[in-house]
Amino acid sequence: MLHVTLRQLRTFEAVARLKSFSRAAEEMHVTQPTVSKQIRLLNDEVGLPLLEQIGKKVFLTEAGEQLYATCADWLEAWGRFEQTIADLKGVKQGRLRIAAVTTTKYFMPRILGPFCAKYPGIDIALEVVNRNRLLERLARNQDDLYIMGVPPDGLDIECEPFMENPLVVLAPSSHPMAQRKRVPFASLANEPFIVRERGSGTRLTVERVFQERNIPLMIRMELGSNEAIKQAVAGGLGLSLLSQSTLNLDPSQDEVTVLNVQGFPIKRSWYVVRPRDKQLSVVATTFLEFMKANVHLLVPRR
Ligand code: PGA
Repeated sequence: MLHVTLRQLRTFEAVARLKSFSRAAEEMHVTQPTVSKQIRLLNDEVGLPLLEQIGKKVFLTEAGEQLYATCADWLEAWGRFEQTIADLKGVKQGRLRIAAVTTTKYFMPRILGPFCAKYPGIDIALEVVNRNRLLERLARNQDDLYIMGVPPDGLDIECEPFMENPLVVLAPSSHPMAQRKRVPFASLANEPFIVRERGSGTRLTVERVFQERNIPLMIRMELGSNEAIKQAVAGGLGLSLLSQSTLNLDPSQDEVTVLNVQGFPIKRSWYVVRPRDKQLSVVATTFLEFMKANVHLLVPRR
């Protein structure tokens, strides 16, 4: 029988997930030597190397991969147990894990302040990642709730729309089409576009929009951040299709303009997603109810 501690497993899970001793130390609010020591103790106990470090990069050995999969299941079960105890005590306290796609960083943090003020015992971890990373987290059941714009097909999930998520065409304010009304979508065929990285929900939607209309998408540049895209559009590198959530109430503050293109803005929603068979904790239910009742907090104020 192996003698390992919860602390060692938590440390190993963080190092394996973040592929870094220093980032694991940061996340766990401990020093790097503490992390190294926990991993060494665990290694000795297991009797096989779990991690390989090449330069600054950390790789999992086969034993490490096995342990990582076990840890993920086990920590999830343990988290559920802790939550059940909190629920049985009837107190609204505990940890809430939310994974949200990149673009939600424009509104999700806004609700956390009022929520935490109302429920000081609830501790929130908000993981902001692109759509592909979010789907990986969903597959591993790593979070309580998932916030996204393009829910996946074919998974046994429950998705609830909670807010509009229009997709708009952005151009530099000086663009010749900026003054035109009802620009036909086909006119965009000759324009260079700046798009998000593959794996992002926005990128997926943009590709679908062009494909459905049978218009070629001319990609000038691919950028992994909505902010960088807005800057590139403002700088005259091209046009972009982004969620309206990325914009200020007055897009001219971003030095961009929203083009009046036929069929736009494309109506979409933001969804809160969770596995259908997942029993939500009291904390997660409390958050969900709070968010639905306070959607106005998510919209920028005039
Ligand atoms: P993204 O997702 O931030 O990964 O582009 C947005 C979305 O799902 O609509």
